[in-house]
Amino acid sequence: MEVLVIANIKGGVGKSTLAVNLAVAKALEGKKVLLIDTDLQANALGFVELRRQNGKKDITGVLIPKPVIHKQIEDFSDFDAVIIDVGAKDTQTFRSSIVASYFGKLIVPVLPSPYDVWTLEDTLKVVKEIYEQLDMVHNLNPKPLVVLNQVIRSTISDDTLQAFSDLQKEFQFISLNSKLFQRVVYRKSLSEGKGVLEMHDPKAIEEFTNFVNEINSIDFS
Ligand SMILES: Nc1ncnc2c1ncn2[C@@H]1O[C@H](COP(=O)(O)OP(=O)(O)O)[C@@H](O)[C@H]1O
Ligand SMILES: [Mg+2]
Repeated sequence: MEVLVIANIKGGVGKSTLAVNLAVAKALEGKKVLLIDTDLQANALGFVELRRQNGKKDITGVLIPKPVIHKQIEDFSDFDAVIIDVGAKDTQTFRSSIVASYFGKLIVPVLPSPYDVWTLEDTLKVVKEIYEQLDMVHNLNPKPLVVLNQVIRSTISDDTLQAFSDLQKEFQFISLNSKLFQRVVYRKSLSEGKGVLEMHDPKAIEEFTNFVNEINSIDFS
C-alpha cells in the first residue's frame, strides 16, 4: 500500500487540488484508490461524490476528521494507494496525518512567493519534530517533498529562491523539480469530477505526469 499525504498548515495552497489529482492519477494506473479527507470542509470527499454521480466509481472517499489516521491506515491495507488530504491547521489530526506520512510520502504544496515559502517553516517544524521521534525507532529518514503550485512565470523570483535556500539550511526537505502552473483547467476539471489527466490540455497533462513520475522515483526505504 502506497501512502501519499498532502499537507501544509497554510490554506489555499492547492492541497485538495493535488490530492484529488493524485487520486485520479493512481486510479488511471489501475490501482485501487482510497482518498481520505481529514478536513471538515470535505473538498476532496465532495470531489469523489461528484465523480461517482458522473459514473466514475474508481475512487473511494472517506472523511476522517479525527487524530486516528496513523492507526486507521492499517485497516485500509487492501487499497493499493491511499491519498490523504489534510486540513490547514496544526491540529492533532494534522499531526496524526504527518505520522502516517512517515511510512509513505509527504507532499507539501507551496505558492511561489517569499512570504509563502517562509510560512512553510510552521509546517516543516512540526514535521521535523514528529519525524525525529519516529527516526529514533524506525530509522527511515524520509523527507517532505515540497512542490511549487500555481506558478505564473517559468522563472522563479530570486526572493523566492533565497527563501527556499534559507529554509533548507534549517530543515531537510526535497524541493521537487516539477512545478505546477496556474491553469484554469485545475479548477474546471474539479467542477466536472475529473482530474487534469482526464482533460484535453496537453501542457497540464505533461506537467502533472512529470510530477507523479518524480514522486514515484523517490524511494526512502
Ligand atoms: N495549479 C493551479 N492552477 C489554478 N488554480 C489552482 C491550482 N491549484 C489550486 N488552484 C485553485 O486554488 C484554490 C485553492 O486550492 P485548494 O486545493 O482548495 O487549496 P487547499 O486545499 O490547500 O486549501 C482553489 O480554488 C483551486 O481550484
Ligand atoms: Mg483543502
